[in-house]
Amino acid sequence: MWRVKPLDAILATAEKKSLHRSLGAFQLTMLGIGAIIGTGIFVLTAEAAQKAGPGMIAAFVIAGFVCAVAALCYSEMSAMVPVSGSAYTYSYAVMGEMVAWMVGWALILEYAVAAGAVSVGWSGYVVGLIENAFGIDIPNALVLGPMDGGIVNLPAAAIALVVTALLVVGTRESAAVNAFLVTIKVAALTLFCVLALPVIKMENFEPFAPLGMAGISAAAASIFFAYVGFDAVSTAAEETKNPQRNMPIGLIGSLGVCTIFYILVASGVIGTVGAQPVMDAAGHGLRPGSPEMTAACGALSADHVVCSKEALAWTLRKIGWTQIGNLLGLAAGLALPSVILMMMFGQTRIFFVMSRDGLLPEVLSKVHPKFKTPHVITIITGVFVSAFAAFFPVGVLADISNSGTLFAFAMVAIAVLVLRRTDPDRKRPFRTPAVMLVAPLAAAGCIYLFFSLSKETQLLFVIWAAIGLVVYFLYGFRHSHMARGIVEVPELSPDAPPESVPPMPGAPPPGSH
Ligand code: ALA
Repeated sequence: MWRVKPLDAILATAEKKSLHRSLGAFQLTMLGIGAIIGTGIFVLTAEAAQKAGPGMIAAFVIAGFVCAVAALCYSEMSAMVPVSGSAYTYSYAVMGEMVAWMVGWALILEYAVAAGAVSVGWSGYVVGLIENAFGIDIPNALVLGPMDGGIVNLPAAAIALVVTALLVVGTRESAAVNAFLVTIKVAALTLFCVLALPVIKMENFEPFAPLGMAGISAAAASIFFAYVGFDAVSTAAEETKNPQRNMPIGLIGSLGVCTIFYILVASGVIGTVGAQPVMDAAGHGLRPGSPEMTAACGALSADHVVCSKEALAWTLRKIGWTQIGNLLGLAAGLALPSVILMMMFGQTRIFFVMSRDGLLPEVLSKVHPKFKTPHVITIITGVFVSAFAAFFPVGVLADISNSGTLFAFAMVAIAVLVLRRTDPDRKRPFRTPAVMLVAPLAAAGCIYLFFSLSKETQLLFVIWAAIGLVVYFLYGFRHSHMARGIVEVPELSPDAPPESVPPMPGAPPPGSH
């Protein structure tokens, strides 16, 4: 279980089966922004406010900082090992199969559960838009999950299934579509800042941390979700021109742009409509997504940003920009499905690589004869994502997703350090600066955020990891290609060559450059 997949074998495989290298630094940055900006800023801002009050600004800074140091570690790994599979592949080469399996298993949380969270976020905006723009009142029972006071979130489940269908028939976002959607998102956030920032009132920032440092940490652990997605850039390493240069630019660049926007947008929300948490009688902040919170928000007639399912649109309407609030809802409605698509695509790509290594049954990476997509795993993923979206609140899903992501990020940071020691002479086109400081900071930051998640979320992660270990020893341990001495990766089947999986969304079609 400690067997490693030699780096040289991984690189040779990548070279042999290489996808078309077409992405440059700009496209990677756009790809990153496309995957990053989503439910986190559009929706979870309200949850962060409920946990930290105006101190959510600090939470955005903390989470952004942890992601920045993690991204520096990702950059070293992805430039050195520019292959698919991201954290899973790096761990396989450095820390052995069992750790790699656990990372891959955690990435299921990152990608599939996150896709569910973004679906719920999308639903909040679209429902808000329909209700506000057309004056139609849609019953809560059909648009909210049970924990939010409804029965089933039908729009969220539906969008997840629509995206699944698009992925099955092989729809992938062209670079042009991605650029268009990034422009919409950036324009929406810019408009928000332009309208909100000039009218902020400094007194809304007081008291700054009503729930103390614990509240800020909890908010940072949740809002971390808003930054997730930059690692999707590294999953495109095999499709990148000059990855040594372009990967770090794409990773750090997209993260930097988003961090600036997030801090400005959060300031706009706090400064205009206030961001004080809803408390219980004893002065404790209520937990977002809990029945108590739902009841308290009902009593407040939802006249509080922390109760909103569409925080940014709500804020704009509240400060008098009703139509622009609706327009922002429309922007979110148009752009968020592409985040769902990227997350689900990332999931299928990870499953694909794991199955290529024999750790998952090969049937999962079966490629559809007509559509040339890994339809089996896409449909399985889609059904689960849709179920998560139908029944769970966005914050709960985002926190669960974060637990898996934080584990994977910490492992990448450790892998960078280990590899510096075990393989110091390997060519490192990008070296993490001050690695002895940055990598431990990244790992420690992830651990800190993990332990700032709710106890329930931590427990769920432990249960998930335990299930993963059982699955590994029942299946992967014996079926692993490494275990069976197959270092060179075989074709999956004559009609299913790995390269028939479509490239990363955002990549231009082969030959178009
Ligand atoms: N960062 C992505 C979002 O906020 C996952 O939706």
